[in-house]
Amino acid sequence: MGLRKILTDKEPALHKVCKPVTAFDAKLHKLLDDMAETLLDSGGVGLAAPQVGILRRVVLVDVGGEEPEILELINPELLETSGEQYGPEGCLSVPGKYGLVKRPNYAKVRAQDRDGNWFEAEGEELIARCFCHELDHLDGIIYTQVMDRFLTEDEM
Ligand code: NI
Repeated sequence: MGLRKILTDKEPALHKVCKPVTAFDAKLHKLLDDMAETLLDSGGVGLAAPQVGILRRVVLVDVGGEEPEILELINPELLETSGEQYGPEGCLSVPGKYGLVKRPNYAKVRAQDRDGNWFEAEGEELIARCFCHELDHLDGIIYTQVMDRFLTEDEM
């Protein structure tokens, strides 16, 4: 286990399209464990591999309530979205800022687990927002590219 450094959006890694994971091996498991530790330490809701400098299609989302419950999504694809939500969104790679982003209110994804088995996951509100935000990271898209505007100091 080990904490990984979270890169900011100044780093080129955050703006690249990530490659699919093809090896579901010990190296992937170490990455997932490190990312989980890093996410829990950060207090964030989601973390994508490019945020720790790894250009692979790996995302973690904390889908828990009071207690953390980390969902590992490998090679995730958006299957279905519906509805709409509009509100503030932040990113561990854009520290101290929040922007107003329109997202679907419901999202269903398909992904592989750490052993390569495909499964589906769905979520509403914050989870749906997080799925969309994190999947965007895998295509080099930061929320600041799709937001309306940053929140002002007063609004924060
Ligand atoms: Ni982010």
